[in-house]
Amino acid sequence: ADGPLVLGIETSCDETGVGIVRGQTLLADVIASSVQEHARFGGVVPEVASRAHLEAMIPTIDAACQRAGVRLRDLDAIAVTSGPGLSGALLVGLASAKALALALDKPLYGVNHLASHVAVDIVEHGPLPEPTAALLVSGGHSNLLLVPDITNDIRSLGSTIDDAAGEAFDKVARVLGLPFPGGPHIDRVAREGDAAYVTFPRGLTSGRDMERHRFDYSFSGLKTAVARWVEARERDGQPVPVADVAASFQEAVTDVLTRKAVLACREHGVDDLLIGGGVAANSRLRAMAQERCDAAGIRLRVPRPGLCTDNGAMVAALGAQLVERGRAPSDLAIPADSSLPV
Ligand code: KG4
Ligand code: ZN
Repeated sequence: ADGPLVLGIETSCDETGVGIVRGQTLLADVIASSVQEHARFGGVVPEVASRAHLEAMIPTIDAACQRAGVRLRDLDAIAVTSGPGLSGALLVGLASAKALALALDKPLYGVNHLASHVAVDIVEHGPLPEPTAALLVSGGHSNLLLVPDITNDIRSLGSTIDDAAGEAFDKVARVLGLPFPGGPHIDRVAREGDAAYVTFPRGLTSGRDMERHRFDYSFSGLKTAVARWVEARERDGQPVPVADVAASFQEAVTDVLTRKAVLACREHGVDDLLIGGGVAANSRLRAMAQERCDAAGIRLRVPRPGLCTDNGAMVAALGAQLVERGRAPSDLAIPADSSLPV
């Protein structure tokens, strides 16, 4: 393989990710997650995440170099997530990347977390067709993007106006008595359920709401509807059909996500759709997206689940694109920006 040798560091949430790529080839992707430390709180605790990043950083960098069979001094550049994400968590990654760049005298590239969720598919499925539409769905974000150029032109078509899709999965899982993070558990139990058991609301899909929020999402009303439905059952002393409710909820989320993503492709004349973020691991979302893309003549790209969730490879992949296309490195004073726009 050829191309620039880039190390990427990701610490925007609860995974400490270090990836190494050469050009478009993935050499190593090592992740240390603090997710189990957050489980008893039912959500990610920023302070706990920051401390975990600090402890995991050096061992994770060492492991990635070892796995890739490279030495730090051979790197061509260091890339790091500068936002959006949890401030304290981002600071640990940025400080580490700056230290490496300074000590090794290598260029530093601060990258956008959402852009790198898109870029990671390059190491999985090859060069990104441009423009591409991207649906990014995770515990922290739900965005519909138009990507004319992954290195310097990404447009936001829409995003969630309340909860992220993964957040809705996690909250509904909690209502159903399933462990955190709930997405994978809902996915699993829903396989045995009837997706047509309850018709839950599809937010922002009709009337004025759809006009005003054509490519935006809303999941908090859905989450509340599921909670009310379950409460009513319990009040009546009836058993809750967990699999059926999980399947019906999942159907509502994936229906809205895929419907608007395909509509965005059609209206913007885009033939390629990429889905990323932790929720892209959802089996129903993958199946429905494939069906609807096939029907609309759209090519669908979904990285393997391990590259959909937060990782260092995505940062390294975008860093390599920035180097290859001759983009200027970041200033070493680059700040963490918790609400960095795309
Ligand atoms: O991208 P990610 O690892 O971290 C961020 O939130 O940035 O995404 C984690 C989210 C969690 O909300 C988790 O419940 C959800 O992705 N998730 C899933 C599945 N696997 C992970 N949601 C639905 N179905 C899944 N199979
Ligand atoms: Zn993410």
